[in-house]
Amino acid sequence: MKALIASGGRGTRLRPITHTQNKHLIPIANKPILHYAIEAAKEAGIKEMGIVVNADSHEVQDAIGDGSRWNVHITYIPQEAPLGLAHVVRIAEPFIGIEPFIFYLGDNLVIGGVQRFVEEFEKSKCNCFLTLARVKDPERFGVPELRDGHIVSIEEKPKHPKSSYAVAGVYLYDRHIFEAVKALKPSARGEYEISDAHQYLIDHGYSVGYAEITGWWKDTGKPIDLLEANRLILDNITPSMEGSVDEHSMVAGKVSAGKGTQIMNSIVRGPVTIGEHCIIEDSYVGPFTSIGDWCEIRNSEVEFSIIQKRCKILNVGIRIEGSLLGMDVEIVEAAGKPRVHRFMLGELSRVEIV
Ligand code: G1P
Repeated sequence: MKALIASGGRGTRLRPITHTQNKHLIPIANKPILHYAIEAAKEAGIKEMGIVVNADSHEVQDAIGDGSRWNVHITYIPQEAPLGLAHVVRIAEPFIGIEPFIFYLGDNLVIGGVQRFVEEFEKSKCNCFLTLARVKDPERFGVPELRDGHIVSIEEKPKHPKSSYAVAGVYLYDRHIFEAVKALKPSARGEYEISDAHQYLIDHGYSVGYAEITGWWKDTGKPIDLLEANRLILDNITPSMEGSVDEHSMVAGKVSAGKGTQIMNSIVRGPVTIGEHCIIEDSYVGPFTSIGDWCEIRNSEVEFSIIQKRCKILNVGIRIEGSLLGMDVEIVEAAGKPRVHRFMLGELSRVEIV
């Protein structure tokens, strides 16, 4: 069994963060989203992984490396253009060969891992095994039509969904998927759709099984989605305090802080994760907040937010909540007169003030 992980695409729905950062590397609970896919595959006993990356960027390779830190072997497969998920599978054939494999979309998170699906797939002897999740907005996804416990059709982003399920981004295949992806034509949006490959398998008499999945998350392009994923993961963290907490501080609930981090005269109420070498002084850090390495938070309050590496939040009079900050962002009190709001924002930034 091998794993194929998709990490290409442009992440246009998550701009401006994705102007400078591949969306698969956005940290959730201080770990790039992509790590969760690698760790889930490893936990399912898989050691050979292929990651499909944008051909014009080395960002993912630089951040992930050769897999040795997880004791797995990673092969990178460049994709020249974002031509769809069926195209991702197609270009991976030389890597996969004839082995069965799990195809994992690197921007999906599955709480509780994927081992059970790998086992069910192997037991079922199906050619293709899909994971389905109940959603409120099936029209944004691949949607199965179910009859008597079988999938009878699958449509990509249908206007009139035939069920309230989405096909989640974790698929299991045997080698027949390559026959399907090679037979496809691009869809109206110009992509080779993975849903069309599934429909091909159904139409040609291959067995397509499924299991229902709970604890599934996928971004639909809004910062709130990432905050929600962060909340889900933080809910399950194991607390570990490697930093220092002075006697004027209160740390309650599940809190992790890395080495070199100092918490001084502050309240930190978990679940919260704080990276290494941060300074939290005269501040409040509330539940469901992730703070990357080398951040400085002084005389400020922050809650339910993702704050990436090296950010500074200094003397901000009003609590920051529901916020997503890229790396090296500064939110600071304006010094001197006149007392004004002063912004330096990139394209598509969004600021809400009171
Ligand atoms: C893709 C698939 C869709 C699937 C979804 C799951 O959608 O085309 O069938 O339900 O991933 O993450 P996209 O992210 O391209 O909109």
